[in-house]
Amino acid sequence: MRGWRGEGVAVADAGAWWRGTMQADLKDQVAFVTGASRGVGRHIALELGRSGCRLFLVGRDAAALERVRAEIVQRFGVPCLFEACDVVDDDAMQAALRRCAEELGGINILICGAGQNRRREITRVDVAVWDQVMKINLLHGVMHLTRFAVPYMIQNKARNQSSTVVYLGTFAIRDAVNPAYVGIEPYLASKAGVNAFASVMSNTLRPYDIKVSVLNFGLAATELGLRSGPLGTGDPNTLIQPEDVAAAVLYICRTAPTVAPLEITLIPNRPVVWQQQQRDAKL
Ligand SMILES: NC(=O)c1ccc[n+]([C@@H]2O[C@H](COP(=O)([O-])OP(=O)(O)OC[C@H]3O[C@@H](n4cnc5c(N)ncnc54)[C@H](OP(=O)(O)O)[C@@H]3O)[C@@H](O)[C@H]2O)c1
Repeated sequence: MRGWRGEGVAVADAGAWWRGTMQADLKDQVAFVTGASRGVGRHIALELGRSGCRLFLVGRDAAALERVRAEIVQRFGVPCLFEACDVVDDDAMQAALRRCAEELGGINILICGAGQNRRREITRVDVAVWDQVMKINLLHGVMHLTRFAVPYMIQNKARNQSSTVVYLGTFAIRDAVNPAYVGIEPYLASKAGVNAFASVMSNTLRPYDIKVSVLNFGLAATELGLRSGPLGTGDPNTLIQPEDVAAAVLYICRTAPTVAPLEITLIPNRPVVWQQQQRDAKL
């Protein structure tokens, strides 16, 4: 700590400072993860399971959720349940949260991972598509779900347990005037909303010892990321890996009570190679 502040302590002490900011153990904490059937959410669930968390998974694809559940139980031996439901269905989501709290013993970590992106041309887009993206990515999938989960998380303070909420945003909101984003307006709007909501909620929930973080990242090698590329399909090897996002979520969940990482941004570290361009070059 002193070394970090430049008080003449050897650089090696920075490691001690780093370790001191981390809570050692997520073992037996309960994590509720939406979007856990595939992509980034699946990797977040795997990493939380590796850390000893009890898990409750949500998505719409029951078969995919069962595969993730079985993998987590087989590899990490932690309790893991799932519910196949749509995050837009408030009744189903409230029932899922109740089941999680009753059967796994509470809710410590909420990961709002479910999200969709659909590219549509402005003169042809059906506004119902815009409504759906806003509902999944912001109104229901983030705002309503947080409202429903908070009463469970408030109880953790009395038990001397931590609570963390993590939203998944996008690096693209920093650069929204980029022509690459024409056609995905509601996606950008929803993620800008997620960032504003996270900032306000970090204050709203601080008295209850609930940390709120938003993880904004660039193109990641998932179904959504591979479909969303502004120049065709990005070579998956040149994009952020879902494991990288999961590692950042673990960092957020393990920070000490003295610190809240309100926003973390991840960008690809390699120049993105566009497979569409590669194909064109061969023609
Ligand atoms: N990949 C990227 O480049 C990137 C970049 C920045 C931010 N993000 C964000 O990261 C999050 C995860 O994206 P991803 O890349 O992992 O996408 P993905 O591979 O397409 O996975 C999306 C996940 O969301 C679930 N989902 C979608 N709509 C749902 C609904 N209505 N109800 C319940 N679950 C739903 C899907 O499950 P089912 O199909 O089983 O419902 C799936 O598990 C999203 O919020 C996305 O905006 C992604």
